[in-house]
Amino acid sequence: MTENTPVTGAPAPAFTTPEVESALEAKLAALPLEVKVALITGGDFWSTLAVPEIGLASMVLSDGPAGVRGAAWDERDPSLNLPSGTALAATWDTALAHTYGEVLAAEARRKGVDVVLGPTINMQRTPRGGRHFEAFSEDPLLSGEMAIGYTEGLQGQGIAAVPKHYVANDSEDERFHVNVRVDEKTLREVYYAPFEAVVTRGEAWGIMSAYNQVNGTTMSESPLLEAPLATEWGFDGLVISDWTAVRTTVAAARSRQDLAMPGPTGPWGEKLIAAIAAGEVAESDVDAKVLRLLRLAWRVGALADVEAPVRAERPGHDPIAFARSSAAAAMVLVRNEGAELPWSRLPGSVAVIGEAATLPRTQGGGSAFVVADHVVTPLDGIASALPNADLSVEPGVAVTRGLVPFPLHDVVNPETGEPGVHVRFLDADGGEVLVEERRSAHLVWTGGVPAGAVTLEATTLFRPKRSGSVELGVETIGSVEVFADGERLIDGRLSSLDDAMGTGLLAPPRLSERIDVRVGTDIQVRVVNDLKSRGHLSNAASISFGLVASDADDDGRIRDAVAAATAAEVAVVFVGTTNRDESEGKDRKTLSLPGRQDELVSAVAAANPRTIVVVNAGSPVLMPWRRDVSAILLTWFPGQEFGDALADVLTGAAEPGGRLPTTWPATEEDVPVLSTTPTEGVLTYTEGIHIGYRAWNAAGRVPAFPFGYGLGYTTFERVSAEVRAGTEEVPATVIARVRNSGERAGKHVLQAYLTRPETEAERPERWLVAFAAVEVQPGAETEVRLELPLRAFRHWNEGWEVEPGKYRVLLGDSAASAREVGTVLIANEVSL
Ligand code: BGC
Repeated sequence: MTENTPVTGAPAPAFTTPEVESALEAKLAALPLEVKVALITGGDFWSTLAVPEIGLASMVLSDGPAGVRGAAWDERDPSLNLPSGTALAATWDTALAHTYGEVLAAEARRKGVDVVLGPTINMQRTPRGGRHFEAFSEDPLLSGEMAIGYTEGLQGQGIAAVPKHYVANDSEDERFHVNVRVDEKTLREVYYAPFEAVVTRGEAWGIMSAYNQVNGTTMSESPLLEAPLATEWGFDGLVISDWTAVRTTVAAARSRQDLAMPGPTGPWGEKLIAAIAAGEVAESDVDAKVLRLLRLAWRVGALADVEAPVRAERPGHDPIAFARSSAAAAMVLVRNEGAELPWSRLPGSVAVIGEAATLPRTQGGGSAFVVADHVVTPLDGIASALPNADLSVEPGVAVTRGLVPFPLHDVVNPETGEPGVHVRFLDADGGEVLVEERRSAHLVWTGGVPAGAVTLEATTLFRPKRSGSVELGVETIGSVEVFADGERLIDGRLSSLDDAMGTGLLAPPRLSERIDVRVGTDIQVRVVNDLKSRGHLSNAASISFGLVASDADDDGRIRDAVAAATAAEVAVVFVGTTNRDESEGKDRKTLSLPGRQDELVSAVAAANPRTIVVVNAGSPVLMPWRRDVSAILLTWFPGQEFGDALADVLTGAAEPGGRLPTTWPATEEDVPVLSTTPTEGVLTYTEGIHIGYRAWNAAGRVPAFPFGYGLGYTTFERVSAEVRAGTEEVPATVIARVRNSGERAGKHVLQAYLTRPETEAERPERWLVAFAAVEVQPGAETEVRLELPLRAFRHWNEGWEVEPGKYRVLLGDSAASAREVGTVLIANEVSL
């Protein structure tokens, strides 16, 4: 067989009709070359060009993936902040993923967005990946199934999904140029798998090409965009580049890279017209790209005279209620000694300890970041669920590193007298081009800098809460000055970590200086950024200013936390990472909790036997104290309704519905695939198909908590399980009966794995092939049917093959606990 043989079982995508195609072709034929070339670069930072002559409206594209930011990062136009990708996958609930897509679609409509840049379906190859929080899982099947739910939910409402980043963009170090070396079998069985699923079964309308290279070719000009994506999987949608990922005129234009973002400038435009004139690029290549752009426009309803395919019944979800219930459905309880949780009797006093209790991380950093309208902090949630309890609140040790933009309650806008910042864009003569009164000290303008503006100035009155020496800091790109009460405190120049927009705008470098402040004496802080000095970021502006966090008081804070824990009936300690540790643009250097958080937990646990640890991190962290505390609840980056969702879980109003979508290690040394550091620009996936639990099993190592694991508030018993032989397409179905043997309704996530110890092929020790999440009433029994399609048995050997012989089916509630329940016999060798 050849590589181009379509995969059996994948429906030939019938995404369009001959009538629609001829209408699109007629529109294409009406366009002159200049317009066609202009159309395949963005019209601006976030949208495509409109061509009213053919009825083509501009389409607005937006991150994503855990909210819809819209065209501006602006607190005046906030967005719903949903649980992060890993949290969504932790629900193991594809119906919930579908609803998540529908809720995002409503947000997109509200914000005038046509195309959502998500879901992120790169693999969690190592827990150090900086964007691990954004991706779904270490398992390709779970990633693919969640991606399908998300995509169908979104597209069912007429909003395009753009699964990203195709492909092997699984870590961040040197992400712009890193050359990932990975063999075909590994691509097929692991890294392509979620993309294949979301294209062939989820019918995604867009795909984002990644920054990195795969086997020596940059993805925005890679043959992999053609095969397997288009030719084998039947993708007929638009390949949108990651922002600034198209870097060549000819190579990218000749590949199946369709839209270069952002615009309006880029490597195509005039240069591409010249390349066509010189015969280096065929006009038909451009035509094919424009046709696909028109097809996307038709799908999202941006093309007049060709009726859009979707006229959805708006499902009308309550977005806040969904944000709350999905966060609870994602929380994973990994320890619950003596049934500490849920609190059947509400405690009379609780020590609420840790920075995240009042400064929670609801989302990760980078382009995924949205500006939420509000955040329900854990303290808010606990306080409203326990109105009669005596709550003591202790900040614990410092977690945040670096700059904390001035919180609103610490700053006054000198113009309005209200909390906030006075912003002016000035021209070369110092004249005001634009003035804004803002309610944030973290400001980003991606919609372009106002015409004629050369300077950005932000002024506020800082009202110190404590007297003493503080470190005043600013983060931006280019030349910057900071004045304190008119005196120049900082004068310097800052360069971006890399060339990507997301990094430059959201993880910019910093300058800072110490200054003495006194309670009762306001200080006027004025920041001036030279917009011309921003290099490749000159068509966007950004500035953050505030105080640099300090851990100088940690000893005293640990003592205070211990005192509070000693005096309270229960201690709830919040630990976690920050959206600087887990962010686009860089990988994590350690899995340990930042700062002295481990020490804090140990000290509190020693003071109060009823210590509950709430882990607020987007990806795995080490928990050396895990056997010393009574309960551990992993909450991920849970979105804006965090506090209420948490209170629901603590009090038992909701169950912690999550199961681990990724293995949690006990120590860093145990992690089989850890490093993300390229060697001379090359990152080789030497482990091949063995990542996640596959790698742990191959290495014979035992993690702290295995893939698939999580406790609910009830218990389940398996009453029966059998493997029934089926058809050629679905060779087997697992039929299991489970009984809720506990006292309250609960969720059970049944997982089926295959294993094939006697094999000619290289195989994982076991691999997930099906799962289902069911809700069961106390004492009730339910039947769960898990179909095992032929593709679950296949492996790549220069083509898809199914080895004949016996496969063992393992069933359980984690990769570690799954046990054999039967076998499947594949009679003949099958080439797919
Ligand atoms: C990120 C993408 C994102 C794009 C637009 C890039 O830096 O890698 O995921 O969609 O920026 O913000």
